[in-house]
Amino acid sequence: MNSTKTYRSRISGTGSYLPEKVLTNHDLEKMVDTSHEWIMERTGIYARHIAADGEVTSDLSLKASQRALEAAGLTAQDVDMILVATASPDQPMPNTACILQHKLGARTCMSLDISAACSGFVYGLVVADQFVRTGAYKHVLVVGAEVLHPYVNYKERDTCILFGDAAGAVVLSRAEEDQDSEIYSFFLQGDGAIGDLFVLPAGGSALPFSKEVLENGQHYVRMKGREIFKHAVRTMSECCHEVLRAHNMPPSEVSWVIPHQANVRIIEAVAKHFGISMDKVVVEIEDMGNTSAATVVVALDKAVRDGRIQRGQNLLLTAFGAGITSGAILMRY
Ligand SMILES: CC(C)(COP(=O)(O)OP(=O)(O)OC[C@H]1O[C@@H](n2cnc3c(N)ncnc32)[C@H](O)[C@@H]1OP(=O)(O)O)[C@@H](O)C(=O)NCCC(=O)NCCS
Repeated sequence: MNSTKTYRSRISGTGSYLPEKVLTNHDLEKMVDTSHEWIMERTGIYARHIAADGEVTSDLSLKASQRALEAAGLTAQDVDMILVATASPDQPMPNTACILQHKLGARTCMSLDISAACSGFVYGLVVADQFVRTGAYKHVLVVGAEVLHPYVNYKERDTCILFGDAAGAVVLSRAEEDQDSEIYSFFLQGDGAIGDLFVLPAGGSALPFSKEVLENGQHYVRMKGREIFKHAVRTMSECCHEVLRAHNMPPSEVSWVIPHQANVRIIEAVAKHFGISMDKVVVEIEDMGNTSAATVVVALDKAVRDGRIQRGQNLLLTAFGAGITSGAILMRY
């Protein structure tokens, strides 16, 4: 490895996978006191996908990864490192990245889970870029995957309408000399002072599983929705501002914004802040809901596959999540 030379990263392939089972607003109307109209108006979500019994995060990751590798024209043997961004790993140990490495039939490479909740994929892509940039690795598989439904209380109307299961993956590769793809700038932050806005209380050393935990529902996610909304708009706007400023690029030169898909009104508020029209924003929330670490990468894959995103375009990825974590990446696709 040449220690002085640096390289540019290029997304060489994308893939995604949504489980077959679908839970619509009309299904939820039968489960909690809500209505299709309320959910559509307040969130923009119509349906969420729910993993089948026994279908775990590494299974969803595997399908998305295989599609990304195929799109890149690579095989699992080409992968130098695996990063899995997830808040819902198969189990606490071993990490999901190692389980995926084995299921994929990849070499025994560096395999790491990234824990940054809904910002996890954006964090992961930045980590991958550092390894490609230095020349340490040539092809890094970056996955955002969640099976969230076990952590959702389907008796609580303010949370159960939001979340779904999904996985997306990209292969981040070293760009060849004649390819002008590049990650221009990134900005990531974590603010633990407001960490109580969105929590999964039990299952860690602070509150191990017990009969009481189950009785009190502490194994389910809890959030302060209205406050998260406010901070989501603020932090994503800040992060986008920082990456644009760092590369001296006006918002008008951004071809596509690919934001975390948590609530369509949050997305609209961020776009409005930058004067970016909604037809330059990739919105895929209606059919999948909030799939945490998977949203940005699934939206990216969908827009690549249907031809909205083209080579040479400037992409602005942004996310926020529990932590509170947030981040943005400005790149040439
Ligand atoms: C959760 C969220 C959709 C609620 O929308 P909102 O416009 O903020 O609604 P509010 O919380 O102000 O609630 C308004 C009313 O609707 C009610 N309500 C909440 N959920 C409801 C539902 N599913 N159906 C019908 N009514 C509902 C509330 O009880 C409240 O009633 P009240 O005024 O009588 O108290 C919205 O705040 C949100 O998306 N926040 C971000 C959440 C998020 O992204 N979390 C993950 C972080 S990655």
